[in-house]
Amino acid sequence: MTTTAPETQIEGYLEMLQRFYEEEIEGSAYFDALAERFSQAEQRRKMHLMAQVERYAAAAAAPLLVKYHLITRDAAVLQASGHKHAQNVTADWPALISEMRRTFPDYMPEFRAIEDLAPPQDLPQLKMLTAHEIAAIAFLEAEAKGDPDSDTPLINYLRTGTA
Ligand SMILES: [Fe+2]
Repeated sequence: MTTTAPETQIEGYLEMLQRFYEEEIEGSAYFDALAERFSQAEQRRKMHLMAQVERYAAAAAAPLLVKYHLITRDAAVLQASGHKHAQNVTADWPALISEMRRTFPDYMPEFRAIEDLAPPQDLPQLKMLTAHEIAAIAFLEAEAKGDPDSDTPLINYLRTGTA
């Protein structure tokens, strides 16, 4: 521990790290379950892609959880929670995209905040977390415009090498 990383900062960082990881696990289950609510193949495929992006982000962060010996909530509990949330969503594609466009950018300051709290050696993994949110937002913007290649940011993200 260094003087630039006092105990409270590290604690706050680890708390965020665990929460973010858990939210990605929950999110992947949410999007997979959401996919099942839609009848159009393209819409289902895009929701499954979002789930994959969530899993990819979680996998990128996973080495940090091991590094700090963080014990996350049980994956089955997180997945059940994600599934439950998906059941409460109205299966209206434009409304869903619009709602996500409205809410997703609100998470960006949190991703920046965890980068600010982190020891520099953890930044490659955290930037992968931030990048998944940027990719999701880019997808939503393109989807709202009716771009036939709206999924490109998600596919490109899934091709990013982990640090
Ligand atoms: Fe996410």
